Amino acid sequence: MTIHPRIEAMSSEIAEWRRDFHRNPELLFDVFRTAQVVADKLKAFGCDEVVTGIGRTGVVAVIKGKGAPSGKVIGLRADMDALPIDEQTNLPYRSATPGKMHACGHDGHTAMLLGAARYLAETRNFSGTAVIIFQPAEEGGGGGREMVKEGMMERFGVQEVYGMHNMPGLPVGSFAVRPGAMMAAADRFLITLEGRGGHAAKPNDTIDPVVASAQIISALQTIASRNCDPLDSVVVSVTAVKAGEAFNVIPQTAEMKGTVRTLSKEMRDIAEERLRAIVTGIAAAMGCKAEIEYERGYPVTFNHAGQTDFATRVASSLVGAANVDTSVPPTMGSEDFSFMLEERPGSYIFMGNGDSAGLHHPAYDFNDKAIPVGVAYWAGLVETAMPA
Ligand code: NI
Repeated sequence: MTIHPRIEAMSSEIAEWRRDFHRNPELLFDVFRTAQVVADKLKAFGCDEVVTGIGRTGVVAVIKGKGAPSGKVIGLRADMDALPIDEQTNLPYRSATPGKMHACGHDGHTAMLLGAARYLAETRNFSGTAVIIFQPAEEGGGGGREMVKEGMMERFGVQEVYGMHNMPGLPVGSFAVRPGAMMAAADRFLITLEGRGGHAAKPNDTIDPVVASAQIISALQTIASRNCDPLDSVVVSVTAVKAGEAFNVIPQTAEMKGTVRTLSKEMRDIAEERLRAIVTGIAAAMGCKAEIEYERGYPVTFNHAGQTDFATRVASSLVGAANVDTSVPPTMGSEDFSFMLEERPGSYIFMGNGDSAGLHHPAYDFNDKAIPVGVAYWAGLVETAMPA
């Protein structure tokens, strides 16, 4: 592995920042302390511009290279928010707030990007401009979407954008990426069926929404088995069913909710269309009234081919080509960075976190040994894309 000595030298200090973020987790858009620490450090590093309050609590810094301006502008993005999980570790820097925890490693992501900003602001060994992006609310709030909506890409002239996430189970010092769909679109639905309640001993006098729900739940599984191209992917999971209270009453209404995950725009449209048709058709056949709330969440995280080749090249020069998996299977999880990838070409890469507990697990911890690798990757993207 070839890591710049300055990055090696600052890694233990970056680990201290990381542990401070870990001790002080904040949720969604309420990352006030984290954003303040980030902005203060970026100013202290001598970034050319530091802007706060983008996408409510997002922070963006601009660092210009010392080489002749190339006109090129590259965005690097980290996420700052934690999860509503009670931490189950005995780490000396464990969460000081019950019910909140950095269980996805965004503490590490924030610290590594800060480290890269410091290195880049000190050395400026590139032409062009690096735009350093810290977003709130990755875990379900759409902070990335908010930053994009406020015109971040135009305001800072971002031409390409890169993201990174740690990955438990992947050895430290290795990367995994793929062109095309990397993570899924995540949509959710709430179905309400209205029948006619009554005595359970007189079903002929009722319209039973429970039986109708059972038909619908089974039929929704045909979206995957009958409507999806066998070489494409879709998950339809009904995750909550609510109807009735008593042994002897047929309820008036039944509710089902769940999630739909897809890896292509086409399949995303098909899944929604089929869900609506199945629910409406079966409800009508059973005599129930159906109401469907279908909410589109994060889109597919789609890696652009050219930028993914480039990211692979940078990662390979750092850790060796043998340690960069370029065809990792996509996952059905989802990622807010996809909104940035819809606006600008770019690539999202996984970086090894070693043998840790899984993401979103109460015993998870970001691996500080990965810090120099992540910082060097960020620096490498900027210095390779925009050589001085
Ligand atoms: Ni995460």
